[in-house]
Amino acid sequence: MKVLLVEGYQEMSKVAAQLFAQEVRSKADLVLGLATGGTPVGMYAELIRMHQEEGLDFSQATSFNLDEYVGLSSEHPQSYRMYMQENFFGQVNIDPRKTHIPRGDVQDLGAECSRYEQSIVAAGGIDIQVLGIGNNGHIGFNEPGSAPDTRTRVVQLTMSTIEANARYFEAVDEVPTQAISMGIQTIMSAKKIVLLASGVAKAEAVRNMLEGEVTPAVPASLLRSHPDVTVVVDEQAASQL
Ligand code: GLP
Repeated sequence: MKVLLVEGYQEMSKVAAQLFAQEVRSKADLVLGLATGGTPVGMYAELIRMHQEEGLDFSQATSFNLDEYVGLSSEHPQSYRMYMQENFFGQVNIDPRKTHIPRGDVQDLGAECSRYEQSIVAAGGIDIQVLGIGNNGHIGFNEPGSAPDTRTRVVQLTMSTIEANARYFEAVDEVPTQAISMGIQTIMSAKKIVLLASGVAKAEAVRNMLEGEVTPAVPASLLRSHPDVTVVVDEQAASQL
């Protein structure tokens, strides 16, 4: 793992956007793996700026998001589809038909998971995947205990994740308890991975990921066996290293 230590959130966002932009420029039909949460908002903002001011072109790119809540329609304000629309897709020239996010509101969730996994393979696999990290070391919605061979599936969210994500909802009991998430193996199949961590709340998870045991108990630690991972971490998130 390559670790880039930066000062704070803004620098982390710029460094991450540069890494992404470099890939977009080198391969027009890039397959992007995208993440939600508070962490990548600044990176998306920087990529939008590069699109507007420097002509960074997403017209041939395809994207796959890590996860989506079960039970929320794509129009729900807290759905990850809506988040992506507001924070990125709506402001760059990516073809909406090439943006993929699991559907959390379908009858047959199992079929949706297989369909999603197959469409990643059909697109040629993910070239570059951005990840945040949960306070408990989760990646995507792969909670502690997720096996290394997992693929896209329905997962149960832990109380700690539900509480951490409650800030986006009116009340904690409105947060869905399940999600569809790419699995650990889906994420590990990406050619390149960039993990972003900012703020003191992530310090313990960052230490466990980088210095602890490689174990499914800390899903992010499993990334240490991937050949091309860059961790962009700010001073607060690195404070326990
Ligand atoms: C959610 C998402 C993850 C994200 C994590 C951290 O659970 N499914 O992909 O990395 O939260 O979120 P934040 O960046 O808001 O701290």
